[in-house]
Amino acid sequence: MSDAYLKLDKLTLAYGDTVAVKDLDLTIAKGELVALLGPSGCGKTTTMRSIAGLLAPASGRITLDGDDITRVSANKRNVGLVFQSYALFPHLTVYENVAFGLRLKGIGGKDLDAKVSAGIQSVGLAKFADRKPAELSGGQQQRVALARSMVMQPKVLLLDEPLSNLDARLRLEMRAELQRVQKETGVTMIFVTHDQIEALALADRIVVMLNGGIEQIGTPEEIYNKPVSAFVADFVGFENVFALENGKLATSTTSVELSAPAPQAAKGLAWRPRMVILGSGPFQGTVRGTSFAGNTREYLLDTPLGAIKAEVDAELPTHAIGSTLPFDLPLAAAAPLSRYR
Ligand SMILES: Nc1ncnc2c1ncn2[C@@H]1O[C@H](COP(=O)(O)OP(=O)(O)OP(=O)(O)O)[C@@H](O)[C@H]1O
Ligand SMILES: [Mg+2]
Repeated sequence: MSDAYLKLDKLTLAYGDTVAVKDLDLTIAKGELVALLGPSGCGKTTTMRSIAGLLAPASGRITLDGDDITRVSANKRNVGLVFQSYALFPHLTVYENVAFGLRLKGIGGKDLDAKVSAGIQSVGLAKFADRKPAELSGGQQQRVALARSMVMQPKVLLLDEPLSNLDARLRLEMRAELQRVQKETGVTMIFVTHDQIEALALADRIVVMLNGGIEQIGTPEEIYNKPVSAFVADFVGFENVFALENGKLATSTTSVELSAPAPQAAKGLAWRPRMVILGSGPFQGTVRGTSFAGNTREYLLDTPLGAIKAEVDAELPTHAIGSTLPFDLPLAAAAPLSRYR
């Protein structure tokens, strides 16, 4: 990314002696929508708090729009933050909730009204301006929280799992809404989630974090199709992940020759269940379990390589539990991993 708008430079973040994020480098362009994705405790919220100015880095630097903001206080950074619990003021109307921060900045009169009305409009809540939060659905409250941050015209808007309180249908709606608002306003947005589907659907780029560091940065397509490590592969659904040693698939107990040479630089190979070919191939497996998943049927096989998960068209003839059948892990379909651990 050449045009750095927000830049995290060797950022190390700690709570007392506990280092939560170590030497993190990340560059984000203006107008980008970046998702931070990773398991619980990997440092997503900690990273967001440091960008917002709520946690001073142990070391490293944060620059925003050309300014070093590492030591700038939270209220002078022009960074918006929407948390999972969006904490609207219950006694204020939608209008007054959205107006709150602007009033604090000394904005009033026609200027205030224009900004608040536009903000409420942009999240589709014009009809609800006079309601109190308790008279709104979860998704509507979420949109108020979004409007409240957006009207401040932050340089960066940080959203920390803002959709996790919503049911599945509302989540989908809000996801689309977020994407629309972001594209319309061009605000630079960092979005935290541990839902990979959400990250894939929303983001321009995804940052996969693990143990306080970055595992991989890439477009949704890159992360989904070209995971670089065993962790990312498994995280995005390559459920059959193997280390490569001397060109052979290695498991804890054995190593297995491939039907063709593996890519030179690869340290591991990974296959999605639907990439596994059942019914033909050089390997043998015994069906340990099977489950029907609508269009497809999933099989769990006991094999010399360990457990293998395969997914095939549900209309194909079924294989009984206990039966032994050939299968293949086609090399052409495999994702080559540059790191295995
Ligand atoms: N106030 C705190 N004091 C001490 N340690 C903390 C504090 N907050 C977080 N941590 C630790 O820092 C690490 C990163 O936490 P963080 O909240 O950033 O994780 P996260 O990626 O946001 O996880 P989640 O998906 O569960 O929200 C964890 O190991 C956590 O236990
Ligand atoms: Mg968190």
